[in-house]
Amino acid sequence: MPEIYVATTLYNARRTQSDRLSESEIRILYNTFMATQEETFKKLVAHCKEYGFVFPSSEIYDGLGAVYDYGQNGVEIKNNIKKYWWDAMTMLHENIVGIDASIFMHPTTWKASGHVDAFNDPLIDNKDSKKRYRADVLIEDQLAKYDEKIEKEVAKARKRFGESFDEDMFKQTNERVKANVEKRNALHERFAAALNDSNLEELKQIILDEEIVCPISGTRNWTDVRQFNLMFSTEMGSTADGAMKIYLRPETAQGIFVNYLNVQKTGRMKIPFGIAQIGKAFRNEIVARQFVFRMREFEQMEMQFFVRPGEEMKWFEYWKEFRLKWHKALGMGDENYRYHDHDKLAHYANAATDIEFQMPFGFKEVEGIHSRTDFDLSQHAQYSGKKIEYFDPELNKSYTPYVIETSIGVDRMFLSVMCGAYKEEVLEGGDTRVVLNLPAVLAPVKACVMPLVKKDGLPEKAREIMDMLKYDFHTNYDEKDSIGKRYRRQDAIGTPFCITVDHDTLNDNCVTIRHRDTMAQERVKIEDLHTILSKACNMRETFKKLK
Ligand code: GAP
Repeated sequence: MPEIYVATTLYNARRTQSDRLSESEIRILYNTFMATQEETFKKLVAHCKEYGFVFPSSEIYDGLGAVYDYGQNGVEIKNNIKKYWWDAMTMLHENIVGIDASIFMHPTTWKASGHVDAFNDPLIDNKDSKKRYRADVLIEDQLAKYDEKIEKEVAKARKRFGESFDEDMFKQTNERVKANVEKRNALHERFAAALNDSNLEELKQIILDEEIVCPISGTRNWTDVRQFNLMFSTEMGSTADGAMKIYLRPETAQGIFVNYLNVQKTGRMKIPFGIAQIGKAFRNEIVARQFVFRMREFEQMEMQFFVRPGEEMKWFEYWKEFRLKWHKALGMGDENYRYHDHDKLAHYANAATDIEFQMPFGFKEVEGIHSRTDFDLSQHAQYSGKKIEYFDPELNKSYTPYVIETSIGVDRMFLSVMCGAYKEEVLEGGDTRVVLNLPAVLAPVKACVMPLVKKDGLPEKAREIMDMLKYDFHTNYDEKDSIGKRYRRQDAIGTPFCITVDHDTLNDNCVTIRHRDTMAQERVKIEDLHTILSKACNMRETFKKLK
């Protein structure tokens, strides 16, 4: 039996029934599981291509680095994610409205926002492999290695001491853990100081002192660290007219800020209120890796919430909590999410946190929640010479509103959903299946209707059922191959329900409905299908969890 199946099954067992396995069994299985995470990720990427979720961009010309196209199933998931976000913002909050601003903006926008001068990443090259890295990412990976070592020791001890285990006491007394905690904290402090001071020499020195090697060449032959601006630029107008250098927007947020007055006035919006937007953003990422996690062209869902100065922390907490609930309501496992508060705040922010998801390559940022003070509106007021303020009738005075921003990447959200959903299962009898346990609300296809055989009026009956469901649900029809093969095809794209029409259906108007995750089958009336699908697939039930 392939190692990965054993490891996955037993790792899951370890999490739920650790008392039934011995310590050495757990250790071996845990290690095997961790080692296979990378392999699982590679398989997920291959699966995304094979089943029409994601293709490399312009693949017939060998692709383009960190640019991807979504296929027939991927685009459905993406659209469902966007709808889930958009409706949660604009329908569940009566004081949030949407806009759709252009990608091209007046170039002064990016001077005012600070992107022209400061939207940089620190990069470093390895002279032997000629590979380029982000210096901050190399150091963050090193921090994660210390965390992993500490967690391994703690997990072992927890098992050994059982109920009476005191984690804090253990960390304070175990010599190996103490040494690693000290090293980790010292590195963390040094790293945060170097970032805060934008001290590039110190970043390089940290890499040398920590003996960080290039993963390709294995050497420590590094160049100096340099700053690199991430914005793509192009020219608007012909050179004869005097072309203007413009940028592809690196975030959608500025389209909201420059429209603040338009929306506030025409919508007669009263503070607090929000403006939401979904759209493409572009960054010339130095280190583009991990599939759609870090792309050069990606999509953001951003919402700027305008509040009274002094009330921003209350709203920051509100949005932190609401956004985490939004993620958790999808049912992908609460333990897979965590907050990560920022050590280094941008000069205009007074609070920032990330919502991270457990990907196969560790906990990674999916969304940022930022308290941006009045920085952006004040900057645009200064650079445009326009007064951008709000007259607050309750306070009887005007002020520049403060802003809480929620910013999530559609593609990262897509990746987190796919990583959480992808399972390789061993079935009774030793057979295996690949299944996507997608939240039904996000699944690209909600149901597949299958006649048992291609004759005797069964296809016609199946088509009738399709016609009944297709106005409300994305459905597939499949009559090719055995029922077992058809089930596997639907499992692989995450279809929650398969509906089989057999000879009895013609007499009793009932069908067999098969549930993706449990593989349980039940006989139901055709007239009940709509209600069954609605309950599982409509966003209504998920939205109710956000109260
Ligand atoms: N307006 C604030 C802003 O853009 P950010 O932390 O740079 O903040 C917000 O980006 C979100 O956009 C991230 O949490 C991530 O989900 C997504 N994102 C950023 N860069 C990305 C990239 N290169 N590829 C894919 N998603 C990206």
